[in-house]
Amino acid sequence: MEATVPVDVEGEAGGDAAVTAALRQRLAAGGQSHVLRFWPELGSEARRALAAELRDMDVAEINRFFLRARGDGGGAAVAAGLDARMEPVPRDVLGSASRDRELLPRWESRGLAEIAGSRVAVLLLAGGQGTRLGVPYPKGMCDVGLPSRKTLFHLQAQRLRRLQQLAEEQHGTPCHIPWYIMTSGRTMESTKEFFLKHRYFGLKKENVIFFQQGMLPALGFDGKILLEEKGKIAMAPDGNGGLYRALGTHGIVEDMEQRGVQSVHVYCVDNILVKVADPRFIGFCLEKGADCGAKVVEKTNPTEPVGVVCRVDGVYQVVEYSEISLGTAQRRGPDGRLLFNAGNIANHYFTTAFLKDVVNTYEPQLQHHVAEKKIPHVDISTGQLIQPEKPNGIKMEKFVFDIFQFSKQFVVYEVLREDEFSPLKNADSQNGKDNPTTARQALMSLHHCWVLNAGGHFVDENGTRLPAIPRLKDANDLPIQCEISPLVSYGGEGLEQYVKDREFRAPLIIDEDGIHELVKNGL
Ligand code: UD1
Repeated sequence: MEATVPVDVEGEAGGDAAVTAALRQRLAAGGQSHVLRFWPELGSEARRALAAELRDMDVAEINRFFLRARGDGGGAAVAAGLDARMEPVPRDVLGSASRDRELLPRWESRGLAEIAGSRVAVLLLAGGQGTRLGVPYPKGMCDVGLPSRKTLFHLQAQRLRRLQQLAEEQHGTPCHIPWYIMTSGRTMESTKEFFLKHRYFGLKKENVIFFQQGMLPALGFDGKILLEEKGKIAMAPDGNGGLYRALGTHGIVEDMEQRGVQSVHVYCVDNILVKVADPRFIGFCLEKGADCGAKVVEKTNPTEPVGVVCRVDGVYQVVEYSEISLGTAQRRGPDGRLLFNAGNIANHYFTTAFLKDVVNTYEPQLQHHVAEKKIPHVDISTGQLIQPEKPNGIKMEKFVFDIFQFSKQFVVYEVLREDEFSPLKNADSQNGKDNPTTARQALMSLHHCWVLNAGGHFVDENGTRLPAIPRLKDANDLPIQCEISPLVSYGGEGLEQYVKDREFRAPLIIDEDGIHELVKNGL
């Protein structure tokens, strides 16, 4: 039954309560009046905050979202229907960093030319709450314990600086890569402060553009808005697909157009190996005339938590790991590989023109995905805070890849996992996967490879050369400690001058000030 709205909400706070009659009406019309159930108990500060939160909320729209999301079935129900309709990505839209090696120089120089012309921007999705990692600050601020103690934001910023430098050297013109950073209400202030404190990591302030995505309330299974506290709605960011509404709200596409940006690389914050504005990926997408593209790695384990890029009813999409059934995830092709093996690493290419169409035309058509969650909430009848032991409600999110379906020319670019993908999802204590240790090791292992490929060698404390098998064999087998600043090398290039025919003892650090470690005599 609908809770009764206190009649005197306006008068009770002694004039400063801002709950208007219109708001009460809106809540009542939407069947959400219960959110004011504890109004009489709230102090004036709490009342103001709640009223402000409610005033920004489109209750009718939230109810529509709920009906549409639930009506669609969500989660398992959708997955059940998906099985028969899913098809793998066809070869003709696929480019591969390993199989198409001879084309890489061409793609790279095309991408670098675009960067040199300041026609490429990057867009970072950094509005997530990092619940699994469990840190009280935005994930990009994480220091995973590299010798340099650089954070994820720091590494990404330095990669952008190096790319700008490479493009400038090759084309002789100054250029910049605008960096759009989407945060949420929960991450905006701390993210901005962090960048300010670190002086934008050497980038120009005017080329780092922050904007905020929207939030949505968590709902009970009956569609009722849940309260986190008596005077506070349980709000969460509206998913990384909240990007498209936020692009419109904050005029970001116009900003891109004014800057002459034509290609945008959108990526997630948590991948320590991310190749921001990867010129090969950009060049590949441009050569194919794509308006939309996805970077993938081969998924080899059916239960790995990555979405898969595929076609459903002939239309490209990512089927998220939470929405695919185990049976489908386990299917194998005649070559023994997983049938759905295009593992989404959340690196996407969009033309500015495509983003504009999405914002202006397609965004309202995007459906929310429903996640059933254990949502702590205040019981409306007793006022008690409940910590549920099983899911008691839903969060609704849009996903960044949900716009693939609108693409007219979609492409997929496959890269090697060890070169480009090591996400930071969990805390070290939780399990042995995708945590600070694995992220740190992945980066050092890659940089070790770069040194070997550039003609350098590592020796042990006795001067005996270490075997050139840098990858980890098991969890206790530590990689050689080796870290190369992104300001020195973006993707392994330019290292010969530092390492060719030289022997090193780990730890080896190469940064803009040179080599920091025991360097033995040249050979
Ligand atoms: C994401 C992908 C998944 C992929 C995996 C690879 C989505 C929806 N899923 O899953 O297909 O295989 O990465 O690591 O992209 N974010 C926001 N706002 C939000 C929620 C998230 O900006 O409201 C950002 C996060 O800060 C992060 C990114 O989106 O940068 C991915 O979010 P996360 O929840 O970590 O996605 P996964 O479930 O790991």
